[in-house]
Amino acid sequence: MTTHFYEPSQGHGLKHDPMSAIVGPRVIGWIGTQSTDGVLNLAPYSFCTMFNYRPPIIGFSSVGYKDSARNAISTGVFTWNLATRALAEQVNLSSIEQPVDEFAFTGLTPCMGDKVTAPYVSESPVSLECRVSQHFELTGSDGKGAGAWMVFGEVVGVHIATEHIRDGVYHCASAHPVLRGGGPKDYYEITDDTLFGLYRPR
Ligand SMILES: Cc1cc2nc3c(=O)[nH]c(=O)nc-3n(C[C@H](O)[C@H](O)[C@H](O)COP(=O)(O)O)c2cc1C
Repeated sequence: MTTHFYEPSQGHGLKHDPMSAIVGPRVIGWIGTQSTDGVLNLAPYSFCTMFNYRPPIIGFSSVGYKDSARNAISTGVFTWNLATRALAEQVNLSSIEQPVDEFAFTGLTPCMGDKVTAPYVSESPVSLECRVSQHFELTGSDGKGAGAWMVFGEVVGVHIATEHIRDGVYHCASAHPVLRGGGPKDYYEITDDTLFGLYRPR
């Protein structure tokens, strides 16, 4: 196999940086927060996944100290909302880098969490209410700050639209989640026809 090898610190030597296309497509955490002044905020984060079962812990990385990280850290709470194909345009619109309330800007309906004072997206079929458990700036292997902030939260409340639960099982593809690809406009939709099964070895 012929390979293209590069050291990221020296440049990739391609037309576009392939890293986010290689480690992709990525789950999109659609993060709902409120500032200490009460301004609602919503933005997509694809550096975002689940890291533990019990307690359930999810995290997202803010490249630059953005409003979602600032609000989550200062209020101690955030929500994670499922980004679906039906809501993809609003997901994308909510990434606008302007000082606006993205709920109003995208025409979505905020609802305050039952367990946390952070807004979730009523139109999203799944929302997780989270309490910040850890936060810190990422560093490179040299220990220098990377200018990206990691925010982890324990999930303390879960809302699931019952239409996606069949016979007591939540179906991952039922709501057609969308994932982030590598290019500036690339998204992927998850549907049941890409499902295959493999049991883990014992
Ligand atoms: C699909 C998608 C995924 C994104 N993922 C991230 C991410 O993981 N980290 C990040 O810092 N910005 C990410 N962005 C950009 C932020 O959404 C954008 O900077 C937004 O304005 C941040 O909003 P905030 O300042 O209200 O938190 C993403 C944008 C899109 C469209």
